[in-house]
Amino acid sequence: MPKYSFSSESPARVKADVLVLPVFKGPRPGPGVKETGLDGAYKAAKLLGKRGENLLVPRRSGDRFAAGAALLVGVGDEDEFTASALRKAHGRVAPILARFGSVATAIPLVFEGDDDALQAAVEGLELGSYRFDRYKTRSDDDRPKGFAKATVVGDVDAKAGRAAVRRGEVIAGAVTWARDLVNTPAGDMPPAQIAREAQKMAKEVGLTCKIWTEPELRRGGFGGIVGVGAGSVNPPRFIELTYKGAAGAKPIALTGKGVAFDSGGLSIKDAKGMETMKGDMGGAASILGAMRAIAQLKPKVNVIAAVPSSENMPSGSATKPGDVLKHRGGKTSEVLNTDAEGRLILADALAYLTEKRPRAIVDTATLTGACMVALGADITGAFGTDEALISQIRAAGEAVGEPVWQLPLWREYKPQIESAVADVKNIGNRYGGAITAALFLAEFVGDTPWVHLDIAGPAFSEKGNDLGPKGGTGVPVRTLVRYVLDRAADE
Ligand code: BES
Ligand code: ZN
Ligand code: MN
Repeated sequence: MPKYSFSSESPARVKADVLVLPVFKGPRPGPGVKETGLDGAYKAAKLLGKRGENLLVPRRSGDRFAAGAALLVGVGDEDEFTASALRKAHGRVAPILARFGSVATAIPLVFEGDDDALQAAVEGLELGSYRFDRYKTRSDDDRPKGFAKATVVGDVDAKAGRAAVRRGEVIAGAVTWARDLVNTPAGDMPPAQIAREAQKMAKEVGLTCKIWTEPELRRGGFGGIVGVGAGSVNPPRFIELTYKGAAGAKPIALTGKGVAFDSGGLSIKDAKGMETMKGDMGGAASILGAMRAIAQLKPKVNVIAAVPSSENMPSGSATKPGDVLKHRGGKTSEVLNTDAEGRLILADALAYLTEKRPRAIVDTATLTGACMVALGADITGAFGTDEALISQIRAAGEAVGEPVWQLPLWREYKPQIESAVADVKNIGNRYGGAITAALFLAEFVGDTPWVHLDIAGPAFSEKGNDLGPKGGTGVPVRTLVRYVLDRAADE
């Protein structure tokens, strides 16, 4: 990661190879533009300040700014300007900035929550710079190496400015860490490897970590995690992380779907359907990433994470349609489709977390194609038993630019998952698949306030976007961290 720092200097005087200047639509492009004398270039190039527009202006003798060049970046209307727009604008230009050694960016502080803007700029620069090239053997000599230094310039108190930049670095670091886990081929990231990565990370940031192996899961009654992993030569794991930031307070509990690879099992997917299924542990990766950031930011709350990981494969030892699994806590489920496996491993994790008497449980999972049909590729679906908790999660998502939309936990569909032989079955009818999946999970949370986030769409980007290339996105790490930090601020 480059070295990020904060400065309250005037944008005109900041020294860097390139100075980023966000510019608004309309008659007043923004304070930094006037100060640096770049309003001339803005007008001459007929810029409109629209999102997606950018112009690189090399400094020439007589110019009034100290940086080697200026990059004017359109951010749209001033009255619609948000931290999210600023994050995306920085993400978009990060690949251009990669050819410079040092970068500065002048943040226009025109809305409430100045620190959010500084933090968002760091996140945008870092996420937009993200590449996953570990498996490329031929280094592309033409590809720029990326900037080594970035200064975020804003007229705020130095202590608040430095803290905001630090938050941006930590959160972007957690997101890219989660992306790496998702992008690593499933052949190199079986459950045991996910567990080792978690263990190593926990040691680095100071979290308590306990890994459950398959015999321990069997003895502990985790029939869902064991049953989904039964067809694979790679045995399952259960990863438990504990963060203590407040003595005696009830913890927030987190879990995420960690299906290392989802072939569908005996209810096998077609080739196309499997192409992105190394990403079926995106929920797990986002929970582990969030815990990493939480450990580094040290909010005054307690958080526990319990992440199940199995590999869903067909074989002679695989769970068969019609088999019945016994979950942690004793409830049984009839497996009618082995491709509805995420809910089976999450059931164990949710039941286990309720034993810890948490104040709330949040789970996140690449759970259903149906959720993508409902909300498209970019929006997380939220279901839950507690409206206040759902609102808090939605507010967190809104604040960090990860869209979350509530869907109904419609109890009248519950008969769809009644089983003739077990307590519940793992599929419903053809329609409303995201809802019946959520209703299945609800069976395992008792009366603990709970939110389920279906990230089948946003966890994995098929085309890439402003905040990164195609592949794992790290969604919803930023929402989870924001939710936890907000709870510390509540107290
Ligand atoms: N991991 C998939 C869901 C998924 C599909 C995520 C596409 C991202 C992209 C999940 O395990 C699954 O296979 N769900 C089935 C459930 C069905 C069998 C009830 C689905 O959505 O088709
Ligand atoms: Zn799956
Ligand atoms: Mn599946």
